[in-house]
Amino acid sequence: MSLHLKRIIYVSERTDVSNANLQKIIASSRKNNPQVEVTGCLVSGMNSYLQLLEGSDTSVDQLYLKISKDTRHANIKILNEENIQNRLFTSWSMRLDPFNNLMWSDEDISAGNFLNISEANAINIFTRIHEQGRAIF
Ligand SMILES: Cc1cc2nc3c(=O)[nH]c(=O)nc-3n(C[C@H](O)[C@H](O)[C@H](O)COP(=O)(O)O)c2cc1C
Repeated sequence: MSLHLKRIIYVSERTDVSNANLQKIIASSRKNNPQVEVTGCLVSGMNSYLQLLEGSDTSVDQLYLKISKDTRHANIKILNEENIQNRLFTSWSMRLDPFNNLMWSDEDISAGNFLNISEANAINIFTRIHEQGRAIF
């Protein structure tokens, strides 16, 4: 496996907002991601998803390609793609965050609408979730 770590953060529109589907997505992630050493976090908003994937170049690219073909979301847009030194979500094959305990000044974002989110705010959200996690455990 390549030694280069990268991450992709993307936003997408939910085409199916059922909780049952979200549970299926998380179940697939927790089954598949450990096999390719991908970790990350999925933030489920009112109408949108915000997901961070981190791992080796090849694993992240292949997983992103698979996810981008999933019809449970649409209009996928990569917000951030870069090489990283360290992972944010080391112990999570896919952390699920319903985004209801992070205060946010932007009204759309705090209502769970990430469709117009900036790259900087997306990175900020994952940094805050990461810091909260550290505080809890
Ligand atoms: C928003 C979203 C995020 C997803 N994240 C992952 C993921 O991190 N890992 C994964 O294996 N599948 C993820 N999926 C599901 C994949 O698109 C695909 O359905 C699944 O990997 C198929 O798994 P299976 O071959 O084990 O049935 C995601 C789907 C959506 C809509």
